[in-house]
Parts: sequence; C-alpha cells; structure tokens
Amino acid sequence: MRKNIVAGNWKMNLTLQEGIALAKDVNSRVSAISPKCEIVLGTPFTHITEVVKTVDAPKISVAAQNCANKVSGAYTGEVSAAMVKSTGAQYVILGHSERRAYYGETSETLKEKTDLALANGLLPIFCIGEVLEEREAGKHFDVVKQQIKEALFHLSAEAFGKIVLAYEPVWAIGTGKTASAAQAQEMHAVIRGLLKEQYGAEVADNCTILYGGSCNAGNAKELFSNPDVDGGLIGGASLKAEDFLAIISAF
Ligand code: 13P
Repeated sequence: MRKNIVAGNWKMNLTLQEGIALAKDVNSRVSAISPKCEIVLGTPFTHITEVVKTVDAPKISVAAQNCANKVSGAYTGEVSAAMVKSTGAQYVILGHSERRAYYGETSETLKEKTDLALANGLLPIFCIGEVLEEREAGKHFDVVKQQIKEALFHLSAEAFGKIVLAYEPVWAIGTGKTASAAQAQEMHAVIRGLLKEQYGAEVADNCTILYGGSCNAGNAKELFSNPDVDGGLIGGASLKAEDFLAIISAF
C-alpha cells in the first residue's frame, strides 16, 4: 500500500531560529494527534541538522530542497547528496519548478541528481508540472509525461520504487489558484497510467503522488479525497504550524 505524505517546502524562508521554532511547534502538535500520513519538513540546507535534532514525533522526517549533480570536489556553493544524507535528512526535493525556471535545471541534471540521491540513500520527492501556456495549449499531459520519462525512466523498477512524485502545476504555485480536485485527479491518474506502462501495476500502485500548488487547509480535504492524490507538497501554508497541521489533519 502506498503511503500518504504531507510535505512542507519552506523554500528560502525563515532564519535558523525561526525554523527551529516552527519545527518544535509542528513536532509538539503532531505528537498530540495520530496523523494518518507521513510528514516531511523541507528546510533550507542550513537548518537541516538542527531541525533533525528538534523533531522526534514518529511520523516526521526532514528533506533538503536540492542536492548537487556532482559527487564532490571543486563546486563552490554546492551541497552533495552525501552531505545531505550525513545531516540525518531522509528526503530530498528535486526538480522543483523554481529550480528549473531560475537555476536552469534540466532533465539531464535532474537525472544525475536523482541517481546521486538514491545512491546515498535519500528518497527523492521529484517535482513535475506544466506552465499555464502549456495547459492552455492542451499540452499538459505530454509535458509532465516527458519530464518523468527523461529524468526517471532510466531507473530500474526497484530504484523507481523509492521515488515520490509531486505534481505541481506552475500556474498554481504561490498564486492562490489551486488546480481543481478534478484537474489534480485527472493528471495523477495519467501519471499512474504512465508508471503502469513502464513498470507494471505494482510499482504504479505503490508510488506516492503528491499535489502541490496553493494547497491549504480549505482545499486539502477535497484534493486528498481523490483516489490518486496521496498527499501534498505545501509551500506557503507550511510556514505556520497551525495551517500545516490543518492540512495534515485533512487525512
Ligand atoms: P504554495 O503552496 O505556496 O503554492 O507552493 C507550492 C510549492 O511550490 C511547494 O513546493
């Protein structure tokens, strides 16, 4: 059975002290309930070690928001998958649309990052999603399928089993414009169909596919009630414990 996950992506927000305070708050609130999903805190690199030390509720783990596409060496400013792993993080968010758009990440570099993440025992939360013009041109299914094929279909079925996918339509990120539950379900079903063609029914059924893009306490329940929507990747609403907990409680 695939797992449900609610993952926060803090992006480039919160100082170390603010991040620790938020992690503490989320941790104590989660400890007080029995969440029906796994919870992941996607923090800046600088915060990971302290956040890992701060959280001890059974279902919480920590993610980096990126890792390098090189093993080690003279790559000033980069952080390797091995370094991320050594902090105690279990997950790494890869291929976020902001990284694709602002830092020129391509399927080729994402393929390398995915391989290094897996080789170092990290679980990738791999993001895909179309921009508005692509949806309006009716190309959204093809765009998303292509992103998955190019960066991930070199993986064996066993390796692919470690991937969490996050469908994040770019037009819904930070805009307050959520995909409707029907739009999310439609895309997630197409993605699962593609995985079935490539890897068979078992791998497809076991793959957790998250929705991201203006997901909040008000719409999470409807989104998560769809058969192929297994949770959310949450930006803005993950920055306040109360909002994030309300989304976790939507399961
Ligand atoms: P928002 O929830 O702020 O729209 O961000 C979504 C996102 O990009 C998560 O990775």
